[in-house]
Amino acid sequence: MTTTSSAPGKVYLFGEHAVVYGEPAVPCAIERRAHVTVSEREDSRLRVCSGDLSIDGFTVEYSGDRDAGGTPDVDVPAPIVDAAMGYVDAAVEQARAAADAPAAGFDVTIDSEIPLGAGLGSSAAVVVAGIDAATRELGVELDAREVADRAYQVEHTVQDGEASRADTFCSAMGGVVRVSGDDCTTLDAPALPFVIGYDGTSHDTGELVAGVRALREEFGFVADTVTAIGDLVRRGEAALADGDVATLGRLMDINHGLLSGLGVSGRTLDAMVWAARDGGADGAKLTGAGGGGSIVALDAGSGAETALSLTPDCEAAFRADLAREGVRVE
Ligand code: PMV
Repeated sequence: MTTTSSAPGKVYLFGEHAVVYGEPAVPCAIERRAHVTVSEREDSRLRVCSGDLSIDGFTVEYSGDRDAGGTPDVDVPAPIVDAAMGYVDAAVEQARAAADAPAAGFDVTIDSEIPLGAGLGSSAAVVVAGIDAATRELGVELDAREVADRAYQVEHTVQDGEASRADTFCSAMGGVVRVSGDDCTTLDAPALPFVIGYDGTSHDTGELVAGVRALREEFGFVADTVTAIGDLVRRGEAALADGDVATLGRLMDINHGLLSGLGVSGRTLDAMVWAARDGGADGAKLTGAGGGGSIVALDAGSGAETALSLTPDCEAAFRADLAREGVRVE
């Protein structure tokens, strides 16, 4: 048998980084999906192929012990293969546990429309779709909340404890969600006109989260910035409930400034944020951990996307509709 599941990537409307300290965050699922196809094997080995994780294709086959059996082919840097395999490995472990099949082996193929490490939730989408596909392949159907919970356990382990539930819950549930600590809910939201700019680079989320933590420990007032982001998110929830896109945009601009204060913006992100604003966006901010990667803007017209596509620091500019559906079997 073969099973394919898909799950969406996400942008943060508000609240990344502050969510690590228990403040609320509001991520939104976007119509860019990771597809994971799983076939159970006769033996207990795991073989993973990926064509387009925005890195060169890689194939890895191993018997469960990555250190002993992993043989990455071609020219992909070992740390990237290691990171990607860490997520897949842990996702398969969760599926084996959920289906009570500790020795199950799989061929896994990943096709993702979401660039890696770019603040668009690629790893969460792969993990969510992978757990869903592998459990179904073993004859077990988990509800989306359980997939989200198991996917969070994966991210928590692979990212050395530096992960919130935001990415995984959003990818599993779809739509607009609110995450505060362990408290995860879905929100009603209007159709939001997202425009995304991507600078072609990737970031290390764990490193950026650790940087904010160090800054917060060194300067007491940085904790106030984190609290201010929480206040902003609560105000944003009201604007969301009212369908007030103009206010959402203004709050995104402020959120970007506060993230800059936490030291997680960068030259390319700032250039893209300003290009989107100059192009007429209601607001723009970096999305995800920052450093490099992506920005998100709100613009119902075409100005922000055009301005981004003309910006040298922007490798790709695209619209992304809100994905109302989270994880699903294909
Ligand atoms: O860039 P991403 O998609 O890994 O997003 C990270 C979001 C953080 O708030 C910085 C960390 C987290 O786990 O919530």
